[in-house]
Amino acid sequence: MIDFTGSHILSVNQLDRDAIATIFSTANTMLPYAQRRKRTKVLDGAILGNMFFEASTRTRVSFGSAFNLLGGFVRETTGISSSALSKGESLFDTARVLSSYADVIAMRHPDSGSVAEFAQGSLVPVINGGDGSNEHPTQALLDLYTIEKELAANVQSIDNMHIAMVGDLKFGRTVHSLSKLLAQYKNITFSLISPKELAMPDGIISIIENAGHRVIITDVLEGSLNADILYLTRIQEERFPSPEEANKYRGQFRLNQQIYTQHCKSNTVIMHPLPRDSREEANELDVDMNLNPNLAIFRQVENGVLIRMALFALTLGVADQVQQHESEVNWFSHK
Ligand code: NCD
Repeated sequence: MIDFTGSHILSVNQLDRDAIATIFSTANTMLPYAQRRKRTKVLDGAILGNMFFEASTRTRVSFGSAFNLLGGFVRETTGISSSALSKGESLFDTARVLSSYADVIAMRHPDSGSVAEFAQGSLVPVINGGDGSNEHPTQALLDLYTIEKELAANVQSIDNMHIAMVGDLKFGRTVHSLSKLLAQYKNITFSLISPKELAMPDGIISIIENAGHRVIITDVLEGSLNADILYLTRIQEERFPSPEEANKYRGQFRLNQQIYTQHCKSNTVIMHPLPRDSREEANELDVDMNLNPNLAIFRQVENGVLIRMALFALTLGVADQVQQHESEVNWFSHK
């Protein structure tokens, strides 16, 4: 198993089942702090460099909140145009510089492999917040954590489940990382539903198949709506040559309450890494699903904070000291 303290978290390939179990059990211990029942100052004085060179809302803010919830400070930069990368600075130099200001760095960048390249220049642990269409390990971990909890509530397990992944499986990095993590479990049926042009990369399909799972590849949603987990994704328009190219694929796999009632199991769990594209022409996950108790998208968001807190505590070597630095919450909290 990976020795977390001081390690970069760049790819789910670094994480075996023991490592996943360690992250999940650490995430469970973070609940009182995330829910503001207690506070902790275990990272008092530590600085997170939150470096997002590509659009982000959830991932960036939840990394920042997770660090704050452990008592640390956050320094942030957003966008390539507002950083020295636009002046021709290499990722190595940028990393060497930024890592001298911080104790850990969370980083997102539009190019595959860029976060690993950045990590080579970094003096401190780097956590991949998404590198192009390659990987998104923290999202995959929060998705897996969510799947485990949602299925447990239905007295089911990840082993033997049926998951349908829907949408842009070519450019969607969340489904790449999640598939690799799931491949470590047993006897899963994967329905991979996408336009042919946006199919799951062969390399990921091989990993799933070589691990002994069943793979169904289709461009029709209807036959797979009775899965245990329905994981919808957005057309990743920023990775297409033009918005018009992306438009060709929008709106092909819509889900609303009427379709759910007609085709899904009564407890099919609906997931989406967000943002969902709610523009009329896409409307991939209708807002009329918001009242459906099996819609897990906002539980995914909450779980993301726990997972990111866990990764900070583990990479900075304080996972067993969090409680020691605990105090009361003084302010009103609705959580
Ligand atoms: C995803 C991403 O950035 O890869 N979003 C996220 O991190 N929650 C998915 C997406 O942008 O569609």
